[in-house]
Amino acid sequence: MTRITIEVNGIMVGGNTHQNLLEQLEDAGIQPEYQCRNGMCGACRCKLNQGSVTQGESMAFVMPGEILACQSAPQTDVSIAFDYQPADIKKQVNEA
Ligand code: FES
Repeated sequence: MTRITIEVNGIMVGGNTHQNLLEQLEDAGIQPEYQCRNGMCGACRCKLNQGSVTQGESMAFVMPGEILACQSAPQTDVSIAFDYQPADIKKQVNEA
């Protein structure tokens, strides 16, 4: 298992290359939005600003440069950004 770093909306968390980003962020205490968890709804869509990911099958529409967190596993250190502050990040920012 390769350890990597995931930057999400400016917050750094440890990650790996075998789990999808949604699961890894949840394991780190960050709560991105999601609905289907299988690439259908697009609720977990985010921008991939840096790094590379493998992407599974998906039906949801994404713009160029966007990925589905539930269908993407990082292959390198990655930097991603949601259009909103996921729940726990907002809490950390408010506590700072
Ligand atoms: S949660 Fe539905 S596409 Fe990811």
